[in-house]
Amino acid sequence: MASSFSSSYPTTVKLVDVAPRDGLQNEKQAVPAAAKIELVHRLQAAGLKNIEVTSFVSPKWVPQMADNAEVMAGIVRQPGVAYSVLTPNMKGYEAALASRPDEIVVFGAASEAFSQRNINCSIEESIERFRPVAAAARAAGIPVRGAISCSVGCPYEGDIAPERVELVARLMKGIGVQHIGVADTIGVGTPVKTQRALEAALKHFAVDEVSGHYHDTYGQAVANTLAALELGVWQFDTSVAGLGGCPYAKGATGNVATEDVVFMLHGMGIDTGIDLEALADTGAWISGVLGRPTQSRVGKALIARRAPADDSTAVAA
Ligand code: HMG
Ligand code: MG
Repeated sequence: MASSFSSSYPTTVKLVDVAPRDGLQNEKQAVPAAAKIELVHRLQAAGLKNIEVTSFVSPKWVPQMADNAEVMAGIVRQPGVAYSVLTPNMKGYEAALASRPDEIVVFGAASEAFSQRNINCSIEESIERFRPVAAAARAAGIPVRGAISCSVGCPYEGDIAPERVELVARLMKGIGVQHIGVADTIGVGTPVKTQRALEAALKHFAVDEVSGHYHDTYGQAVANTLAALELGVWQFDTSVAGLGGCPYAKGATGNVATEDVVFMLHGMGIDTGIDLEALADTGAWISGVLGRPTQSRVGKALIARRAPADDSTAVAA
């Protein structure tokens, strides 16, 4: 029987792989710039057209991103690929500018407590810090994305009402932010809560200007991605091998694995332009660099399927 609702899903989805930035920012061991650069190269070779490379934040706050300029300078850019970076203030923006980002990301929060812990200022103050960043970027012709952290729940404040998301979306719109990423930083969202948060952002941004960013702490991120697709949202941040975490969101695990989202989308007949096998290789490779198994269920399954069948019992019999 033909599905009555599948036709409402988008036919193409844009994925931004945030592994080099969100995936690695919380990593305690030193990850050499060369490995970060190779990760970007492998992602683009697998077909990713959007990669979040690094952040221009204080190296005292996030030491892992201290090599931001070196990583940006080291990547061999592929035509058609957009390389984005996080810039929390003018100091970060000015440093980022020299590295020629294709997009900059300002990052606020729907939770006052998280804003203080993450960027050391209130929500209102953060908007005032972002205002000149957005204006300067737009004047330079660089697209500006805004992220709203803790859009369904906060490690310090608990549940977050959709009205909080709507407020931050409105404030971001007011300073010229062109795209809003609605982020479930600690992965507590479930599908209906995820839709409520997106609907709040959609009051101020068109559906083509909204993306989802889901951490997978409670295993809900693929379901939440599907819930977002049902609203017509077709852009998502994902992270190869499920890498990720925020230093200011204790207990939050990785982002949803790019492999897991791609497997779902391709299974639904939705195009991503990504070669899933090459992506799984990339996930296995970076997990090897970090010395642990991939967090992607799909990545594990694809790699296991390639292993030669163990016929030792057959021989013994
Ligand atoms: P601050 O201390 O309030 O800033 O930090 P300040 O202006 O008072 O400056 C203090 C010092 O920081 C000065 O240096 C500045 O020069 C320096 P000092 O004189 O002490 O040597 N400084 C900077 N250095 C480099 N780059 C900069 C910069 N700005 C100031 N841009 C600040 C404010 C935002 C910088 C700080 O709180 C910070 O860096 N926080 C890190 C935030 C972060 O990276 N969090 C993780 C990313 S967000 C995330 O993961 C969520 C997301 O994935 C979505 C989701 O899942 O929710 C996006
Ligand atoms: Mg994140």
